Amino acid sequence: MTDVFDSEFARNPWPELARLRASGGVHRIRTPDGPSAWLVTRYRDVRAGLLDDRLSTHVRHANAEDYQGFTVPPPLNANLLNTEPADHVRLRSLVTGEVSPRRLAEWTRLAPELVNSCLWTLNSGQTVDLVERLAVPLPAAVLGELLGLDGPTREYLLGWANSTLLPSASPPRARDTLATMLAIITDTIEHARTHRTDTVLGRLVAAHVDTGSPSADELAGLLFYLLFVWYEVLVDLIAGAVLTLLGRPDQREILRSMSDKEAAVDELLRHLSPQVLAGPRFATTELTIGAATIRPGQAVLLCLAAANHDPEIFDRPEELDLTRDRGPQLALGYGVHACLGNGLVRTVTAAVLAHVDARWPDTVLAVDKREILWRSGFRHRGPLVLPVRLG
Ligand code: HEM
Repeated sequence: MTDVFDSEFARNPWPELARLRASGGVHRIRTPDGPSAWLVTRYRDVRAGLLDDRLSTHVRHANAEDYQGFTVPPPLNANLLNTEPADHVRLRSLVTGEVSPRRLAEWTRLAPELVNSCLWTLNSGQTVDLVERLAVPLPAAVLGELLGLDGPTREYLLGWANSTLLPSASPPRARDTLATMLAIITDTIEHARTHRTDTVLGRLVAAHVDTGSPSADELAGLLFYLLFVWYEVLVDLIAGAVLTLLGRPDQREILRSMSDKEAAVDELLRHLSPQVLAGPRFATTELTIGAATIRPGQAVLLCLAAANHDPEIFDRPEELDLTRDRGPQLALGYGVHACLGNGLVRTVTAAVLAHVDARWPDTVLAVDKREILWRSGFRHRGPLVLPVRLG
């Protein structure tokens, strides 16, 4: 049994992941929450695992001893990962139209405005924490636009994000955080029900009222997913991308000359892999991965970060190389559960990088890079603070 996820892993997981990949690739590990799981680290096994329908994301297939993932109470657990295939296809189709190429083109116009709305009060020469001023508020602005949230709900969402994601002397208890999430979801649905609007949320609520699909619980689970599950990882990507580029003037220079900035985001996604693990999978039958025999009900953690740094697939994987061919990286998942926020994440992050660089090209870190603390490192990873001097 291996303990993998210590505090050093958060800052620099790569040596440990390389060791695990080289020594068999599939290991029985103890999760920080206590229970055990299989950790899969080689690219080919991770990709195959994401496509394997013998591995279910539904916690109903989990056994009592193994890791069961981040469990939430009903109705929040009626979400996209915690469904059987037929319900998953139905629920996913309710959202896919909302992230069509036409909608994404609208985002290309909107994203710079949203980035600017977080930064317009800042000036050259100031020292600021870009996690607090940019990475945390921006997803609230993005999700507010995507879902058509009214002003008070956006404020409420931002309040939740500030209290949960910024370092604090007295972090909120998990129970209080869940209660806040549930209250935001309930208010949001109620508001959309009474003010029928032509927004993603308005359309989801109308589908619920008119057809019963999604059901009330599914609607809450879907919103839980769209509002909260991806919030933190988007914060991690934005902060991680800015931090990484501040330390690499050569890559910043390349970025300036790139017409397709989203290709750069692709490489930053691979390099940083802000979501370390895919959601846990549970074996519905006995199967083998590499040399390991997985028993029914056991938890399988597919390590996206380890796959994205597998030297069998990526040449010099530890190197950030924005000119690298857009490869088959797995940072946004793959297969039936692949990220629905995919296009949005690329567009928004590209807008952040372009805006910060154009407005403050001489920005530098205000502390030594080694002093920056990174959050958790188990499910996802990103800098906790990002003090910079704007220039
Ligand atoms: C940096 C930001 C993000 C990263 C790294 C990320 C990553 C991922 C990954 C790895 C998965 C696959 C999970 C699995 O197979 O276990 C996923 C699924 C998903 N993502 Fe994202 N995501 C991000 C942002 C977003 C945003 C902003 C949204 C929504 C607005 C979103 C919506 C979803 C949804 C709905 C799914 C589930 C799809 C399904 O189960 O069918 N993601 N994401």
